[in-house]
Amino acid sequence: MKILFIGDVVGSPGREMLKENLPHLKKQYHPDVTIVNGENAAHGKGITEKIYRQMKEWGANVITLGNHAWDKKDIFEFIDDVNDMVRPANFPPDTPGKGMTFYKAGNKEIAVINAQGRTFLPPIEDPFRVVDELVKEAKKRTPYIFVDFHAEATSEKQAIGWFLDGRVGGVAGTHTHVQTADNRILPKGTAYITDAGMTGPYNGILGMDKDSVLRRFHTALPVRFEVAEDGPTQLSGVFIEMNKDNGMARRIERILINNDHPFFH
Ligand SMILES: [Fe+2]
Repeated sequence: MKILFIGDVVGSPGREMLKENLPHLKKQYHPDVTIVNGENAAHGKGITEKIYRQMKEWGANVITLGNHAWDKKDIFEFIDDVNDMVRPANFPPDTPGKGMTFYKAGNKEIAVINAQGRTFLPPIEDPFRVVDELVKEAKKRTPYIFVDFHAEATSEKQAIGWFLDGRVGGVAGTHTHVQTADNRILPKGTAYITDAGMTGPYNGILGMDKDSVLRRFHTALPVRFEVAEDGPTQLSGVFIEMNKDNGMARRIERILINNDHPFFH
């Protein structure tokens, strides 16, 4: 099972980058499934149905979300009608949408789980307990399981990686928007990276216009952050390959495309 995972797509620069690069990445990696974190896709916060459909058209098979899932009210109009989008599973019961989905890739199936950390983020339900239950459920159907853990703290991300080692084939962190260089396969077979990185503006601050962020730091006044619309862009993600006998990983490769790391295709 080959998985192409693209980290947080930020605003229109991120969407453009995704549209432009997905065909080339697919040609290079031949993924069975392409998973894209879309929680920042609509102007940096949330996702709309139109954007969801575009990303599917461009080649995303499953969309994952995070703490900004609900920022565009449009989400409530369609999240319960689609089967290929997951929001953090540890939101309270009765939250719209779902935290796990199964994607059919030929005669194989992969479970995609989205969960959210609680350190420096709203104190929702315990992600460890919720993911534990979902993994047990998924195992009954398929050996292939991928988790997008949307969290702020590196320690919490590493903790979930170790917690799931040997039980899921891949854990990729999202949310902090800067790709970490710690991609590895943990001893019991889980491919892990603390953060897959972000897809969007290259010269901003986490994808936002740097002048507005600087103004907030300089003045401590409330400043509205806007997506850095002009300038160069980047794409970040990982490629994971899982063994067919037990669903554990044999490869995790970082993907980073920007002016300093061009992609030749
Ligand atoms: Fe986030």
